[in-house]
Amino acid sequence: MVDKLDYIHKGDTLKFLESINTKVDLVVSSPPYNIGRGKEKRKSLDLYIAYQTKVLEQCSRLLKPSGSIFWEVGSYTDETGHYPLDILMFPIFQKLGMFPKNRIIWPRAHGLQASKRFTDRHEAILWFTKSPDKYRFYLDNVRIPQLYPNKKEWAGPNKGKLSGNPLGKNPGDVWLFENVKHNHEEQCIHPAQFPESLIKRIILSTTKKNDVVLDPYMGSGTTAVVAKDLKRHYLGAEIDSEYHILIKRRLSGKPQNGKFVNLKQLRQYFAKHPKSNSADFSFDAQTSKVPSTVATTDLGKTLFDKEELWHAISVLFNSKLKMNGN
Ligand SMILES: C[S@@+](CC[C@H](N)C(=O)[O-])C[C@H]1O[C@@H](n2cnc3c(N)ncnc32)[C@H](O)[C@@H]1O
Repeated sequence: MVDKLDYIHKGDTLKFLESINTKVDLVVSSPPYNIGRGKEKRKSLDLYIAYQTKVLEQCSRLLKPSGSIFWEVGSYTDETGHYPLDILMFPIFQKLGMFPKNRIIWPRAHGLQASKRFTDRHEAILWFTKSPDKYRFYLDNVRIPQLYPNKKEWAGPNKGKLSGNPLGKNPGDVWLFENVKHNHEEQCIHPAQFPESLIKRIILSTTKKNDVVLDPYMGSGTTAVVAKDLKRHYLGAEIDSEYHILIKRRLSGKPQNGKFVNLKQLRQYFAKHPKSNSADFSFDAQTSKVPSTVATTDLGKTLFDKEELWHAISVLFNSKLKMNGN
């Protein structure tokens, strides 16, 4: 394979990764969930982990010394129990000599229901770096609004000065991004898309313009789309032909036979071509008639809304505890 940039290979990711030598600044992906739904064939847990180990060995080989890997996973459940994949994968990264920086929790409002245990309502994103200290982290690019931006110190040498960073606060390790389902404007035909804002946070916090971002499991191409928007190079693979075509269409941003891949691209097109006739266009997948109000690439705004909600919930929860005398 000739090393290329801004390229999505159609086929098996391991064979692709083994065939290239392009050095990358960031690897970010959600590997197949291995739950056997949709087009996926379920493997035994051992086989799944063995294959993931090989893929991660290749990712580590291609990663520059200053680089990062973000690996987003759920869990594996069988008749014997429930196995969080991030716990099983943590040692793989350690054996590769990589350094853990965060275990990020991505809570979910919806999903499959369990009947014999509590339902899963989060996924985890492991962040590992190749160097313990010489890795890139641009926190200022991804700060979120302070809950009380005008709060001032009330005593001490800084009395009267803002108590928080005016650029905003660290987003923390619980990421309240809405998952892409039903009435989300980014929804394509793929069942497991990353929200663009989640990938935007990862790319902006760990890379610079012209850096190279690798996603070994491109799916609907979210990583490539966001990398391109942010003027980074992308690289990756997708084994499924239908999704591979989807990625190309999504990257082009153009309609094919009058159809866009999602509502977001249709909206963007009409913003640029206001004289177009809306009856001539539609988009592939939208299961609700009403588009989501919080599905936006405006990172700060979306998170601020959610943070406020979270805050309200915690205030209610704490007052309930006090009422109960705890
Ligand atoms: C969880 S999805 C990734 C979704 C992606 N994060 C997005 O935003 O759309 C995993 C993808 O990996 C693809 N896949 C599974 N096994 C693969 C393999 N061996 N090589 C390449 N792609 C594979 C699946 O077809 C699926 O689209």
